[in-house]
Amino acid sequence: MGVLAQYAQHLALGDNTPRITLGEGATPLVPAPRIGSPLGIELYLKFEGQNPTGSFKDRGMVMAVAKAIEQRSQTIICASTGNTSAAAAAYAAATGLRAVVVIPAGRIALGKLAQAIMYGADIVAIEGNFDAALTIVRGLAAGGEYTLVNSINPWRIEGQKTAAFEVVDVLGDAPDILAIPVGNAGNITAYAKGFREYRALGRSSKSPLLFGFQAAGSAPFVQGGPIDNPETVATAIRIGNPANWQLAHRAVAEFGGGFFAVPDEEILQAQRRIAREVGLFPEPASAAPVAGLVRLHREGGLPRGAVVVAVLTGNGLKDPDVASRSAEGAIVPVPADADAVRRAISG
Ligand code: F0G
Repeated sequence: MGVLAQYAQHLALGDNTPRITLGEGATPLVPAPRIGSPLGIELYLKFEGQNPTGSFKDRGMVMAVAKAIEQRSQTIICASTGNTSAAAAAYAAATGLRAVVVIPAGRIALGKLAQAIMYGADIVAIEGNFDAALTIVRGLAAGGEYTLVNSINPWRIEGQKTAAFEVVDVLGDAPDILAIPVGNAGNITAYAKGFREYRALGRSSKSPLLFGFQAAGSAPFVQGGPIDNPETVATAIRIGNPANWQLAHRAVAEFGGGFFAVPDEEILQAQRRIAREVGLFPEPASAAPVAGLVRLHREGGLPRGAVVVAVLTGNGLKDPDVASRSAEGAIVPVPADADAVRRAISG
């Protein structure tokens, strides 16, 4: 049905806001006891990779595009590490808008680039990183000709808060801890807004601690200020100067919790564990919270028995390069007969 229809009463929809949808939202909350039990927690994974373009961005983009149309905009623009551009391109395609996406050349996952191409966006690759791209599109949008659909657009946060509603609707209350990857920090801000609003309405009895996880080479929130050259295999969160810096800090101060860094190797290990021990395939950035929970447990920083929701923000199919690089040795063809196949699988 889509998040605009499902949560209409919680969103500022007017008579002139088109009720568009690609079927975003209503994503599964999957119990993950094989990972959670050894950590002493009750772990659920919110699989946002199941959204129409394979990431949580669809929730915010459907709202931002509906509002852009209401305001008679014809072109939306964004900077992106890949997922925002895929979502912008898809919702623009669905509604006949033009989408302009500015991306860091060579630094977005192949599947995400394929999406922007297929949905027909105008793609500009810059010789610079996401932070440079965001500065450029902010400048261009200031002229009024383009509607900016990065998460500094408040409608993005509005749409994305519906994920917190879904968590409470399914669990019957807020979890004790929300574990979430942090890049530009729009999503942690959006979850905080959703949990805050549901609690004010009496839909939940408590607020979760917010645990935001960053890649160690790209962790401005952990280091305490912007960094110039962020580096991580988790390209989705390769961001050195997060736009929602203050909102995210305010949310964590209000709810409790904190920001934590996880090394790339642990992110990739967690990605494989989620695939092999849960049966969900997240992209690398989305595995950061699970990697972080494992690390926190090791350091004694995870309360026993806590109900924890980790957000798997994007689909692993978007980044086939990282996945295939982690294959253990080459897959060598054998003759097409049963004996050869039996030999290949025995011992
Ligand atoms: N996980 C994934 C898969 C993402 O694509 C992003 C952000 C995040 C987590 C972090 O979310 O920025 O709200 O803190 N991707 C943006 C993009 C930057 O351009 O697709 P955030």
